[in-house]
Amino acid sequence: MCLADAGIVRVTYFPGAVPEDEPSYAVSPGYSAPGAEIREYDEDGVHVVETSLLRIRIRTEEQKVDFYDVATDEPLLTDEGGFGRESKDWTGDARVWIRKNLQETEHFFGLGDKPCALNLRGKYFSMWGADHYDFHEESDPLYKSIPFFLSLRERKAYGLLFDNTCRSYFDFGATDEKVLSFGSFGGLMNYYFIYDNTPLDIISAYTRLTGTPELPPLWALGYHQSKWSYYPDKAVYNLVERFRGLGIPCDAVHLDHHYMERKEGFTWDKQNFPDAEGMVRALEKDGVKTVLIVNPGVKVNPANPVWKEGMERNYFCRRSEGNLLSEEVWPGLCNFPDFTAPAVRGWWADLFSRDIGKIGVRGLWNDMNEPVVFPDRTFPMDTRHEYDGMPCSHEKAHNIYGQCMAEASWLGMKRHAPDRRPFLLSRSGFAGLQRFAATWTGDNRSSWEHLKLANFQCQRLAASGISFAGADAGGFMGHPTPELFCRWMQMASFHGFFRNHSSGEFGGQEPWVFGQEVTSYVKAAIEGRYRLLPYIYTQFHRYAETGMPVLRSLALQCFTNKDTYWRGAEYFFGDHLYVIPIHEPQEGGRFLYIPEGVWYSYHTDSLMEDTGKDVWVK
Ligand code: NOJ
Repeated sequence: MCLADAGIVRVTYFPGAVPEDEPSYAVSPGYSAPGAEIREYDEDGVHVVETSLLRIRIRTEEQKVDFYDVATDEPLLTDEGGFGRESKDWTGDARVWIRKNLQETEHFFGLGDKPCALNLRGKYFSMWGADHYDFHEESDPLYKSIPFFLSLRERKAYGLLFDNTCRSYFDFGATDEKVLSFGSFGGLMNYYFIYDNTPLDIISAYTRLTGTPELPPLWALGYHQSKWSYYPDKAVYNLVERFRGLGIPCDAVHLDHHYMERKEGFTWDKQNFPDAEGMVRALEKDGVKTVLIVNPGVKVNPANPVWKEGMERNYFCRRSEGNLLSEEVWPGLCNFPDFTAPAVRGWWADLFSRDIGKIGVRGLWNDMNEPVVFPDRTFPMDTRHEYDGMPCSHEKAHNIYGQCMAEASWLGMKRHAPDRRPFLLSRSGFAGLQRFAATWTGDNRSSWEHLKLANFQCQRLAASGISFAGADAGGFMGHPTPELFCRWMQMASFHGFFRNHSSGEFGGQEPWVFGQEVTSYVKAAIEGRYRLLPYIYTQFHRYAETGMPVLRSLALQCFTNKDTYWRGAEYFFGDHLYVIPIHEPQEGGRFLYIPEGVWYSYHTDSLMEDTGKDVWVK
């Protein structure tokens, strides 16, 4: 056990001798523990360690570690069965788990991008980054693996980060309502217990531990327009002209993989984009930034200098027998950089010297980095990875592959546009993704169910350290009704990342596609976002400085009121705004819980007189 802080304790179980410390992809290399004054003593054969916040009772023989509030001696988290381990004879690895007592009044939040109601009590989840095409409510796992959760029970809260990159699980009383358990199918039992006064303080502490993000560039907090795909260049020019003509603000256009030649990375299709640099610069002059999609697979093609160089330097992943890992993705058969090797990350970063450095592309969009290969699979488990100096198989590197790609792309932006703050979007990630990238929730659908899920997912990601998160507004698959589109754009204007993206298969989804009335509402929603930008920027600054989330679910902010624990629609957007998106069609109004305090209606400026209860709002 070691103490990172008065309220942050790391607990690790080593079988046999203590090995050299493994790299942590979750904990920020920049994290410096403030250090804590501790007091240690024995109490009836139990070893006790105390900080200004915690009393930790360690029963060495039984391998049990219990956490108490030092002031009241109230139990916070205590072991039930405690630590368990079972070796997997065929691999020499082991399954590890912990069983803790689940208290009757305890409720759980967090865990990244899970598409379900905010409160996780009674549920079971897996961590294994997956491209879940057409996911729905309760689909699990999805793209990201963020093994961090919060526990709330009226006056007390704690957080827990299970820092293990193998396939893992969390059981919040699904199997036994009195037991909270988590574990993994390899690696070490290695967790951080995080204690502070409120859930928001705990999220901030977790975010500082796993790394606060850089302040995003202001434009990146504005509105982004995307589709799979806008091409040729003329279509992009027309798009921007339309925005400008209608006076609808837009700061970024995302180019999906049709900008590439035969979908091969680091190329431009010369027929459709004969003057990429001219286009990027012209858009920039018009106030629009270009964001490019980049996938991890490098097409097997001796005429492609990126592939040739990757081969010469031996930077692509290999299988256990030493043969190259080759799998199909968009451009055809590909090899895959081993982003878990620092040299490979450095090489990848330099591949952006042209697009970021010379051409002036302002943002990158990392997709398919769970990693996913066709048809709907990932790398074979015997794929080898360098894992920053501790080589391992894909079983251990799978969940951090996407984050390592994001780190490499982020490095490319830092190196080749050193005077600018990077904007990077990554579909996959692990704890700490916020150090490098914003994220979106993947391939959702144009349905009311998905609008609601998007709201839960964005709040949940913010509770998991990633406030710069959004969903494809309007839905990626299918085509929204005008009403759904309108409601979704209104909601998304109050999420961290605001992008309209769709598969393009069902017609356009630009703000003007749904008739004049909807266009005027959507324009007003986007303009509202821009009016709020100084406020949003300030909230992001605070997030970047302290880790305080920008989106704060009602339950997390008002955690002393247990009546809020099963609510999910409403949330705080920064310190001063409280938002309740419409989740249902034809909803003319709804009951809204008005928290204690002084609140004014955003629309009418009238004082809300009834606080601390539900009121009907229109
Ligand atoms: C899958 C991504 O989730 C989606 O956003 C993108 O449009 C397609 N890949 C095509 O690149």
